[in-house]
Amino acid sequence: MRWRIRPSRIDGSLSVPGDKSIAHRALMLAALAGGRSEINNLPNGGDVLATAGCLRALGVDIDPAAGRVVVSSPGRLAAPERELDAANSGTTMRLLAGILVGQPFASCLTGDDSLRRRPMGRVVEPLTQMGASIRSEAGRAPLTIEPAQLRGIEYTLPVLSAQVKSAILLAGLFADGVTTVIEPAPTRDHTERMLQALGAGVSTAPVQHAGGRGAPCPEAPTTAVAGASLACPVGARRITLTPGGCLEPFRLTVPGDQSTAAFFFAAAALQGADVVIRDLDFNPTRTGFLHALRRMGASIEMRNAREELGEPVGDVAISGRAVRPIDISRDTVPLLVDEIPLLALLATQAAGESVIRGAEELRVKESDRIAGVGSLLRVMGADVEDLPDGFVIRGPTPLCGATVSSGGDHRLAMMGAVAGTIAAGETRVEGAEAAAVSFPGFLEAFAALGGDIAVA
Ligand code: S3P
Repeated sequence: MRWRIRPSRIDGSLSVPGDKSIAHRALMLAALAGGRSEINNLPNGGDVLATAGCLRALGVDIDPAAGRVVVSSPGRLAAPERELDAANSGTTMRLLAGILVGQPFASCLTGDDSLRRRPMGRVVEPLTQMGASIRSEAGRAPLTIEPAQLRGIEYTLPVLSAQVKSAILLAGLFADGVTTVIEPAPTRDHTERMLQALGAGVSTAPVQHAGGRGAPCPEAPTTAVAGASLACPVGARRITLTPGGCLEPFRLTVPGDQSTAAFFFAAAALQGADVVIRDLDFNPTRTGFLHALRRMGASIEMRNAREELGEPVGDVAISGRAVRPIDISRDTVPLLVDEIPLLALLATQAAGESVIRGAEELRVKESDRIAGVGSLLRVMGADVEDLPDGFVIRGPTPLCGATVSSGGDHRLAMMGAVAGTIAAGETRVEGAEAAAVSFPGFLEAFAALGGDIAVA
């Protein structure tokens, strides 16, 4: 599918689909909890559907009704009759691997071409240390798992990855003894929050004097706005899980996805428009992009703060243009890892040189996002230099409409559409169907806020 986009202004208010990371975890933990859980606002992108499909194959009943999903589970997974297909979703594969290594049956996890190229050694290695039996070819899927008795370990993350941390913690639920994960800098913490909220024995503490790096907070650590706060987590953390607790079934309304909202925030900040997004997750490990927008000159206001199963939620209003260049370094990357393509786009319009370093993880996402973003922006006339671990971007440069490719990556497809709103002439995004992996309704939502976008 191809989109064509013309210059246009995005403004107004909307709600975005539920957070993908929280949704995967909610489905998996509902399956483990047993009983009847109810999940509202579950996003219907391909990634979350992949998790639901795998859980169904493991004997969990997942019934989508109008606007809500009911998960009924015996609390014990059943041996699957076929391979489990995680499709394009790294989160599905890595987190489920953590659960499956603790089951009394064999299983095999596979995925699409992109996922079978992505590194799985990062979960195979710590899970094997825990006693798991996993076979993989050169650290790539398919992963073949045999039953094994697991033991708790203490593990320091060699890559700042919430997926790896989560896989280990989920395996820890089935291990003898305590499992501890040390993260040298904060990564998204939905797994810990949700496990805690459901009654598991999880605790988190800062690591003192352990050589842990502190994420340099770009501004005052906490900016209180109308009862909410845009807090910036700092420093190494130790997450400890003691097995033996019993997970409770639950009822959850999944808060809106920051990483989806980011496309609308970016479109607004490129032109100084006003956008309000309601019911957004604003877990501090997910608001790095809002911090960056603020540093670049946009105004961010948070309203109506509340909590949903351990997650802070509220409305976010953005106004003003992002015009200042930005510097992003390794320890802040996990707090905005999925938004870096948009940050690169914003940097093309900022006055001066922006530098993004320590983001080599982008090379092993759904596509090589350093190569993909760099070439997409250059085709449109931007001054972007790719680095092994990021970009140097000089701005401002006017963008010109061009034919660009998503490279099969949902975030590049939607970023191409955002770029098209400020490019002279017409922009065409090839491979636009990839957007459905996280946001099947993107085109309609973008058009509803004023985006001149259509299927070409
Ligand atoms: C995710 C963590 C991030 C992110 C991905 C979702 C998660 O990956 O890029 O889209 O749900 O835990 P890593 O933790 O591997 O960087």
